[in-house]
Amino acid sequence: MQSRYSLLQKKKKRKWPYIVSGSILGVLIVAVVGWIWWNDWDIDKSMSALGLSNKAEESVPVEEVEEKPVEETVVETPPLVEPEVDMSGAKGYVGNEILPEEPTYVEGVLISSKKYPLPSTYSPGESKEARAAFAEMAAEATLSGYELVAFSTYRSFDYQTTLYEKYVSNDGQEAADRYSARPGYSEHQTGLAFDIGELHFEQHFARESFGETEAGKWVAANAHKYGFIMRYPIGKEKITGYMYEPWHFRYVGKELAPKIFEAGTTLEEYFKL
Ligand code: DAL
Ligand code: ZN
Repeated sequence: MQSRYSLLQKKKKRKWPYIVSGSILGVLIVAVVGWIWWNDWDIDKSMSALGLSNKAEESVPVEEVEEKPVEETVVETPPLVEPEVDMSGAKGYVGNEILPEEPTYVEGVLISSKKYPLPSTYSPGESKEARAAFAEMAAEATLSGYELVAFSTYRSFDYQTTLYEKYVSNDGQEAADRYSARPGYSEHQTGLAFDIGELHFEQHFARESFGETEAGKWVAANAHKYGFIMRYPIGKEKITGYMYEPWHFRYVGKELAPKIFEAGTTLEEYFKL
């Protein structure tokens, strides 16, 4: 006869497999549901992730490839950037020294440089307008104690030829090309260039030292008010073609000169010559 205890133990033993299988089943259900949840409740995706179906892969949207007619290849060229051209010395003479039939004007302004020469026959004489503007400036300068003189203004083609040849024979062509224009290329031939100095201070005439004098500083700071610009400023030899000339001023008019002065540019830079 079985005791009540042993019967109880038997009952307990019989329940054990149910508990274990029930637990495994529970864990499996939780795992399956969790897996499907992890795959956004997408059965195909869940199965495919387990390697049981490839349906999900097939359903990945494929980017639509538009059929386009074959176009000609257009090579985009970069915006034109002016190369830095060195106009100094002989390098600036880009026209092979063939003088033009007509002078060059840009926005109504007569241009004379190594790039834009004048006809050999161009001989306007000294500009009356420029002379009057210089007289006005000189009168104003006396109020500050400076007696300005214009020691060289208009030069004919022939006179520039004589000057240039003299400089070449004295210093050699390479050096001369840095400070003296070849005939046909001088701004003095326009009648609008004024070489300015101070009366009784000839030692500074056509010398860089003029820029260090009080009179030279006054002219540099005020000439634009009278229509003049310093044509060959310091540090611009590659652009203008000439060494620093603090005495050489070019009359461009009272409207334009202050604009160029304020811009702090050379005539070449201002007009992108
Ligand atoms: N000295 C200037 C550049 C000229 O000869 O015109
Ligand atoms: Zn000059």
